[in-house]
Amino acid sequence: MRNPIIVALDVPNASQALTLAREVAGRVGAFKVGSELFTSAGPDFVRQLRQTGASIFLDLKFHDIPNTVAKAVASAVNLNVQMLTIHTCGGLEMMRAAKESALKTAGALGQEPPLILGVTVLTSMNGAALEQVGAGTDVGTQVERLAALAVEAGLGGLVCSPLEIQRLRRFLPATTRLVTPGIRLGGEQADDQKRTLSAREAMDAGADWLVIGRPIYAAPDPAGAARRILESLAS
Ligand code: C5P
Repeated sequence: MRNPIIVALDVPNASQALTLAREVAGRVGAFKVGSELFTSAGPDFVRQLRQTGASIFLDLKFHDIPNTVAKAVASAVNLNVQMLTIHTCGGLEMMRAAKESALKTAGALGQEPPLILGVTVLTSMNGAALEQVGAGTDVGTQVERLAALAVEAGLGGLVCSPLEIQRLRRFLPATTRLVTPGIRLGGEQADDQKRTLSAREAMDAGADWLVIGRPIYAAPDPAGAARRILESLAS
């Protein structure tokens, strides 16, 4: 079985991230580098992590004019990351530019293009917050609308909350990959996550990848935590 666990390296610097990555290597499928770590450790860290043979999910949620996003995606492809995120509310043209840039840049380098994942509605936003930015009031409807647009633009996957998986699976092509944060094992605190499922529940609902942060990196034994999660998927 392909290992679907992506560990979020939500730590402040390269040395902590590399220590964590070494600890859990072999027990997880990929590492997520987000804004905190990338802003502190930069592309050099991504190259260093990539040299260990790890797969990397660069989660910088690009959202800008199409030309700028296309160039940012080209830079990410130059780092040879395997997945990256863009905001779907940047629009169809922006998403198409991202996809085209990934294919073109990867082709020129003779690499596999990264999986581009669309972010729909941030899970921190509810109906009232959507209304404030003029995007309706129903989170579910807005998620579906943006997901459909991402598919139309040719994106290969979406980031979604665990509780959106089933609803999205009903109308998305089976080839669309779903990457899901908000995983909790039960027993531990949910932290700031409001909508959670266990790893097993999320995979059963139709997720392809699970982004897991605190349940692994904040555990007393991160490698043991990753192993237990993997075991829960195999049983
Ligand atoms: O620690 P935890 O498992 O909650 O970490 C989840 C990771 O997934 C974090 O890096 C967070 O930024 C990311 N994420 C999320 N919810 C989203 C999108 C991304 O929790 N909707």
